[in-house]
Amino acid sequence: MSTFESAAQPYGVPGHASAPPYPAASAPAPYPQPQPSPPTYQPQERPPVTAVPVVRPTEDPLSLPAKPATDAEEDDPSTGPDGSIGPTGRPKRHIPEPAMLEKHGPAKVLAICNQKGGVGKTTSAINLGAALTEFGRRVLLVDFDPQGALSVGLGIPPHALDQTIYNVLIEHGPNLDDVVIRTTVEDMDLLPSNIDLSAAEVQLVAEVGREHALLRTLRPVIDKYDYILVDCQPSLGLLTVNALAAADGVLIPLECEYFSMRGAALLMDTIQKVQERLNPRLEITGILATMFDPRTLHSREVMARVVERFGDIVFDTVINRTVRFPETTVAGEPITRWAPRSAGAKAYRALAREVIAR
Ligand SMILES: Nc1ncnc2c1ncn2[C@@H]1O[C@H](COP(=O)(O)OP(=O)(O)OP(=O)(O)O)[C@@H](O)[C@H]1O
Ligand SMILES: [Mg+2]
Repeated sequence: MSTFESAAQPYGVPGHASAPPYPAASAPAPYPQPQPSPPTYQPQERPPVTAVPVVRPTEDPLSLPAKPATDAEEDDPSTGPDGSIGPTGRPKRHIPEPAMLEKHGPAKVLAICNQKGGVGKTTSAINLGAALTEFGRRVLLVDFDPQGALSVGLGIPPHALDQTIYNVLIEHGPNLDDVVIRTTVEDMDLLPSNIDLSAAEVQLVAEVGREHALLRTLRPVIDKYDYILVDCQPSLGLLTVNALAAADGVLIPLECEYFSMRGAALLMDTIQKVQERLNPRLEITGILATMFDPRTLHSREVMARVVERFGDIVFDTVINRTVRFPETTVAGEPITRWAPRSAGAKAYRALAREVIAR
């Protein structure tokens, strides 16, 4: 026997004759065997159930009536008289009545941008766009988010579209005019997108001048519109950099919530880099406080911090948190049409005036 075998022997190997490691089969069980207990449950006689007719929706469960039942006149604090203290805590500045235009274009391109998700970028693109048309401006909305939320918010199912911004941006195939869709709002068109656009981020990497692909795409229609609003996706990737490189201004919706402030520094940093390296004419058009709830101290405190940090670029107009906005998404209409006299509609009209004045 080798040294190894003799050393391994004491530990035993199951089934090895010299050192059985487990108790013999005849050894007593260490625990008492469980005894079956007598059943205690006695089924009771149940009272008869009265049948309730089940009403099942026959239509889409999310379908809403064509218009809200009431469109009550609501006041919006952003539309108070000049000099009055608005929701930002500052006296409201004088905003001149927008002049009517004699001719249209060239368009001012505004990127609506914040890498934080769900802050009201898409909602602001739709409603600011619709409000701008009320002042006689021609608007093109560019859905630059593969989620296609902007298209959905205007009642256009993005998955059913044959051609989207992706085809123009990457394939350079179709004419932009053939891809642009007219919306139900007069003078407001849509360049739609869908999930195809998610491939563009990777495909653009190999292109020469990859940061300027959107600018090249929009150039042919610049003269047809007064405003082109680009709804960005919640990231600071190549698509968003394209939007910033094509833009004259960036509009930043900022949710009145603590975490929003933390992401804002990174966004400002990206904007500054794009200004320095790609697009020197890029300006910050303004910061729009959204989802403001005047009843909570937290909202008011965050608002005070935003105004303290960013100063005059914060719009006097503030968008309150209201269920009317999710409703309009389902309805596929801007709030200015869904509930024209609501505070939300008035706030976006006030914002449109400020945007025109800047
Ligand atoms: N002022 C508001 N009050 C209440 N709900 C709002 C308000 N603005 C937007 N919403 C709702 O919040 C959700 C997110 O808004 P929205 O899609 O505009 O944000 P987003 O920044 O575009 O999001 P994402 O980053 O995913 O693109 C939507 O359901 C929208 O209806
Ligand atoms: Mg969005």
